[in-house]
Amino acid sequence: MEFLQILPPTLAGLNLASLTLLLAGFLAIRSGNRERHRQLMLANLGLAAGFLVIYLTQVALAGHERFPGEGGLRIFFVVLLTSHTILAVSLVGLVPRTLYLALKARFADHRRIARITFAIWLYVSVTGVVVYLMLHHLPLGTTPA
Ligand code: HEM
Repeated sequence: MEFLQILPPTLAGLNLASLTLLLAGFLAIRSGNRERHRQLMLANLGLAAGFLVIYLTQVALAGHERFPGEGGLRIFFVVLLTSHTILAVSLVGLVPRTLYLALKARFADHRRIARITFAIWLYVSVTGVVVYLMLHHLPLGTTPA
């Protein structure tokens, strides 16, 4: 398997791991475990940073992939990818702010913005998995005429 072929499944794996940590971190704070919440969210941030580096490498080396489907499926994909991308860009501002407030122990402010950050991050992670599956694992063109 070539280097460029390894990148998409690697990114999907990192994305799934990040989604798991995000949900676990959220459940930790909802059950009152602040220390576990802190650890899980910091680990999640580490994964997200790794994801970003590999993603940017992939875009630089291979550019963007074209969705192989047509018609309604293509429209659905474009809408999904557009919403995913716009919200992912918003995280570039939201995540550092959320982290900064937590590290400054401004927890009331942290909680207010973190609820929005969490919801957007969740949407971006889940749609990231769907985008990957649609690009690489849709059985398009396999049905006999
Ligand atoms: C950027 C990553 C982070 C995200 C997405 C995040 C997310 C959240 C969310 C959604 C809540 C509110 C839960 C609820 O609805 O009650 C929350 C609360 C909290 N977080 Fe984070 N968190 C992050 C990082 C951190 C870090 C690094 C710390 C510790 C230094 C921390 C400490 C806390 C504490 C103490 C609360 C409870 C605040 C309160 O109820 O007054 N968080 N976080």
